[in-house]
Amino acid sequence: MSYGSFTDKAIDHFKFPRNVGKLDDFNGEGYAGDPECGDYIKIYIKVDNNIIVDIGFLVFGCVGAIATSSITTELVKGKTLEEALNISDMDVIESLGGLPENKIHCSLLGPSGLKSAIKNYYDKISDLKKCLIENKVNF
Ligand code: FES
Repeated sequence: MSYGSFTDKAIDHFKFPRNVGKLDDFNGEGYAGDPECGDYIKIYIKVDNNIIVDIGFLVFGCVGAIATSSITTELVKGKTLEEALNISDMDVIESLGGLPENKIHCSLLGPSGLKSAIKNYYDKISDLKKCLIENKVNF
């Protein structure tokens, strides 16, 4: 198989993606897809004390989608939610040492899925607080 002009690092993340799979005990999950090509990612995060302590992903997509999703999980594991929200598609591209011009858009998949998972986590926390308040539980 030819990998065109992907960097060695991108090919390594494609062949040996990190943090693959659904977490058993996630507390945030997100999705993102590219309607143009049909590629799709699901991301699971485990947040503890505002830190992403674990992350997993499932992806259906191209070499670029797999490599950028994998590096996204490495970039945010151990980071605060605020730091993770600041990870951009350019950070993903730079971390892989670049992407072929026609694969630049693939770098959006990981950060978009991650933002969706963090939003889901915040929504759950908000629902929990609402429930505690409605039930007059002090916290
Ligand atoms: S071709 Fe769609 S994300 Fe790569």
